[in-house]
Formats: sequence, C-alpha cells, structure tokens
Amino acid sequence: MRPRYHYAPAANWLSDPNGLVWQDGEWHMFYQYNPFGEDWGHMSWGHAVSSDLAQWQELPVALAEEDSTMIFSGSAVIDAGGSAGFGHDAMVAIYTGARTDRPHQFQCIAASTDRGRSFAKFAGNPVLDIQMADFRDPSVFWHAPSGQWIMVVVLSDENRALIYGSTNLKAWRELSEIPRDGAPGHLWECPFLVELPIEGTDETRWLFKVDVLSGAPGSGALYRLGEFDGTRFVAETGWQIADHGDEFYAAIGWTDPRDAQGRPAWIGWMGNHAVQKHLPPQGWRGAMSAPRRLSLRRESETLRLVQAVEPSCLELFGPRETLLLNEGCRPVAAASVLELPESAGWSFTLSDDAGRRLSCSLADGRLIVERHDPITPQLAHVSAMDVSSDAPVQVLLDTGSIEVLASGGADCLTLQHRLAGEAFALRGKGAMTVRYLAVSA
Ligand code: FRU
Repeated sequence: MRPRYHYAPAANWLSDPNGLVWQDGEWHMFYQYNPFGEDWGHMSWGHAVSSDLAQWQELPVALAEEDSTMIFSGSAVIDAGGSAGFGHDAMVAIYTGARTDRPHQFQCIAASTDRGRSFAKFAGNPVLDIQMADFRDPSVFWHAPSGQWIMVVVLSDENRALIYGSTNLKAWRELSEIPRDGAPGHLWECPFLVELPIEGTDETRWLFKVDVLSGAPGSGALYRLGEFDGTRFVAETGWQIADHGDEFYAAIGWTDPRDAQGRPAWIGWMGNHAVQKHLPPQGWRGAMSAPRRLSLRRESETLRLVQAVEPSCLELFGPRETLLLNEGCRPVAAASVLELPESAGWSFTLSDDAGRRLSCSLADGRLIVERHDPITPQLAHVSAMDVSSDAPVQVLLDTGSIEVLASGGADCLTLQHRLAGEAFALRGKGAMTVRYLAVSA
C-alpha cells in the first residue's frame, strides 16, 4: 500500500534525502535511489519537485552511478554569484563518490543550469579527497558573515565530523572539527549544520545533527545546539534525541527560503538500514517523513529542537471531528491526523486483520508507543518518553507510517508500519479530534 500523502518513489529503493534546494518557486528533493530494484545498491540520486512541499512530482534520475562510482548522499546549493564557474544561479550538487571496486569515498560536484533537470559532473572531480574508505555526506551552505561556502562532512567509521570552507566549491580548506564529546553509538552519517530561531526572541543558535548507524537512542539522529562563527562550532548543550522512533534517519533541510518565523524545513527517511531489508517486496521500498519546520525553545535552562509539521501538508486535511473512544471499536481512515490532549490520560490501539498493532497511551506525563507486527517481527518497537506542554499531541497517520509530535514538537517519534487497509480498527479510551485526508498528495 502506497502512502497517501508522504513521498515514495513509484518503484525501487529510496533512502536519505539529498540535495534539498529551492529555486524559482520549486522545491527540489533528491534522494538516495536504486534505479534497478528494491534493495540498496547502484546508488544514484532520484529527484522530485514540489511547489508547496506537500504534493510531489517524481522526475527522472538526476545523477546516476557511473565509472564504478556510486552517488552517495550530499547536498545542493544555488550558486547565485557563479563562484564555481558554472554560471550565475547554477544549481550545484555536492555529493560523495563511493567506489564500488575498492573502499574509497571522496567529495564531488555536478552542475545544472536547467533547474535540476540535467547535471554535468565536474571534469575535475573529486574536489575533496583525503584517501579514506569512509568519508561522506557533505552538507554545504553559504555562510554570509564569513563570505564562504561551508561543508560539514563525516569520517563515518571514526565518529568524526569536519568543517571545510571554500570560495568556489572546488578548493576546500579544513577549518575545524566538531567535538564528539561522548556521543553514544558508532558510525556517523549525514551531518547537518543550520542556524535556527529561538521561539519568542530575536536570538538564534546553530543546530548540529548527525545520524548514528547503531548504538544510539531513538532513530539514531542526535543533535546539539551552540554557536558557529564561520570556523568553529561551539556546543552549548549536550546530545539530545531528534526522534524517539526507529525510522527518522538522514534528515537534512532546505536552509532557504524560511517561513515568516525564520524557520527552515527538514525531512527524513522513514526507514533504517537494519530493518529495511526485511520488509517484504512490494515494488518500491522507502518513504520520506512529512516535512517539518524547525525552531528552538528555551526550556528550564536548556535549549531544545522543536519540530512542526509543514503547514501546507496539514492543509491537505479536512475539518476537525470529535471522536470519543469509550464507544468501543470503530474504523478510522488510514490517512488522518489525530489530536489528543497532553493534560489528560488516554490510550488507543490501531489494528488490522493480520494482527498488526500500533498503540499509544499517555498516563502521568509518560507517552508510550508500541508497534507489534507478527508478519515482520523485526518491526517490534516499544518506547516511552516524558512529555509536557499545553499543546495537544499530534499523530500523523498514513498507510505505512505514524509520526507523533508531543511536548509542542520537542518530542517526536516516527515509525513505519505495515497495517493493511484503507482504514484501521481504533479502540481505546479518551477524547480526540480527527481530520481526514481531503486532498490526495
Ligand atoms: C545513510 C547512508 C549515507 C550514505 C548513503 C548511501 O543512510 O549510509 O551515509 O551516503 O546512505 O546510500
């Protein structure tokens, strides 16, 4: 069953979002893609575009594996000043070349002057090569105060993130290293560094996020907040968890344009490398999360990341209807948004005829989410998080996924699921509102 309002390719494997960039009214989303099948391999950049971040159109593969070199994750920028020599406003993709014949990864660029429809790989690639087996996932943005392009990139196997600077996207100079400071787990991937507004103030701080392949809590996406001066990231907080579920990985953002509150949007892969290969084939594999706007909130002497579902995605849903759950079991459409109070206790379970179950409950400020799947037992999941706010808990349901945003967006949880059907059986206790999908994405 394909998702009704989350992005999934028509066919084949999808993983990390790549090259998120906006140009002339069009949001571009590239992503890790295998043009030849449902398993990981032949990694290339798939491509989709949207005018509103809610409805997406899939386009042909943008960057394909070539010369024994796969196209691993990376980012894209609009080179307004033509600094790289590909012309004013060229779209420049910065990606990792990963050799298939030997363990060697390096950073490359490719340029497009036709709105991302076709890319020419730079003849002078690689632009950054330190002869490493695991050196990947460049995240590049323009840093106006220091007048240079900044790249954050990881030495994955060493759990290290390096910052490089460049004035032309071709010659890169190492500037500093982001401190590891006791981060749990092993194998860093997909770093992301971005400046975010602090709610209700004129202040900003920088978020550094990295995905840890194994041994880190939640989905593996860890973040810390601090200052970045064009050379160095100085952390002010410890490591925090960006998502408590199993499947919010490799998120990166569109750093521009921002909304009226100065918030950029990001999006994550609703999958993970441990589980994805166990999912039964269905012609395509992998979907993106809903895009989420990012800001920071000051909370009892610390700062936290706050994620809010992109408003244009919520506009796809109809008006709120009240649902009282003490009435026994009732069907609820698979594509819907539920809202439940964070100040009262409640519980609900969604199930299908095959015995799959998704349960959420809130009691004494503790939100527990459980996933049970007798057919794909690798999906077993239970997590608990302490939540606190006046805002309702928001639950985005779709065929294939559930996203829970609690504590006013400071505690998020993303899971894929395989509940079958257009509607799920809902039982539980408490009151909620539900909005049904009105416009198909
Ligand atoms: C994360 C990742 C990246 C790599 C890409 C390859 O999911 O392992 O580190 O660039 O996927 O597909």
